[in-house]
Amino acid sequence: MTILSVENMNVRFRTPDGLVQAVSDLSYSVSAGETLGIVGESGSGKSQSVFALMGLTADNGITEGLANFHGTNLLGLSARELNHIRAEKIGMIFQDPMTSLNPFVKIGKQLAEVLCIHKGMSRKEANLAAIAMLDAVRIPSAATRMNQYPHELSGGMRQRVMIAMALLCKPELLIADEPTTALDVTVQAQILALLRDLQTEFNTAIILITHDMGVVAEMCDRVLVMYGGRKMEEAETFTLFEHPEHPYTQGLLQAIPSIHEDMDRLPTIPGNPPSALINHQGCPFKNRCSLAESVCHQQIPDFTRLSATQALACHLKEQASHLAGAASLSSYNAVQNPVVKSA
Ligand SMILES: Nc1ncnc2c1ncn2[C@@H]1O[C@H](COP(=O)(O)OP(=O)(O)OP(=O)(O)O)[C@@H](O)[C@H]1O
Ligand SMILES: [Mg+2]
Repeated sequence: MTILSVENMNVRFRTPDGLVQAVSDLSYSVSAGETLGIVGESGSGKSQSVFALMGLTADNGITEGLANFHGTNLLGLSARELNHIRAEKIGMIFQDPMTSLNPFVKIGKQLAEVLCIHKGMSRKEANLAAIAMLDAVRIPSAATRMNQYPHELSGGMRQRVMIAMALLCKPELLIADEPTTALDVTVQAQILALLRDLQTEFNTAIILITHDMGVVAEMCDRVLVMYGGRKMEEAETFTLFEHPEHPYTQGLLQAIPSIHEDMDRLPTIPGNPPSALINHQGCPFKNRCSLAESVCHQQIPDFTRLSATQALACHLKEQASHLAGAASLSSYNAVQNPVVKSA
């Protein structure tokens, strides 16, 4: 069941240098209980594409499009309405736990307050529920931790508290923006395992933003690859790793270090991401793409389905898929979100 459906979302920022196009014409959907990965280089629009859902776009930003969450367009809500949905239905965790934790308030009080306000619990009930959630995110001696301030905990423990906070009201959707990037690999593995366990327990859908293809392989059912604010490829994780079709995705996957190869230097994709200042023509990846042809410099490629599990925006594959008789994006969406017609 689809719980979130984003259609043609645009996020732009007014800056002294002109209009910055952070997210262009982005469409995607998330189903109950699944993990959707969003990957791409720094500046590709990953964070802005979810911040817009949560009303976290900066004041100089303009957001357009539709983000249908149970029949409500999140992009059209007032701050008050969004607050309600944010606390109860959609949780968010960030790279830096201190973005969501108040350094001056004890952990127990921060957690309990959420439950008192949004679930109408008494302070006593809320305290018990908060301890139970700290237990659920495997924080040892949860009752003692309730009386500590965030700075008294290690980075990994603070990350767990933030996850506990985001999951307190049992949201249907958890948005995690680089939740483990700041942690060392052992703690990262523990936190990812924890997210997977909690997802199974609460059937939470997760949007996981990362630039780490290893994290994608481990965690995600489906992946969006973003570049220059656009969705370049979308595929089931296994398909993406087995048959990456977009030249950019191929570049990202080649840039993963391998323990089987002896390398002096890590491979990278040559060149830099495009400036986000508006007025681009053609495919955003054209200047770094070794296969680019003249059409790539003139037109933005359509998003085209290659198979039931894979779609991409690339002129070269578009030509190939037309030859193979594959259908366009509209039928890709139909496969993802079948519309039942009455007989
Ligand atoms: N308030 C703002 N004003 C102007 N430009 C902005 C603003 N916020 C974000 N941007 C621009 O929007 C684009 C997309 O940013 P975003 O933070 O979504 O990238 P990202 O993919 O999350 O990168 P990272 O991996 O570094 O977190 C970038 O070019 C960024 O500079
Ligand atoms: Mg980001």
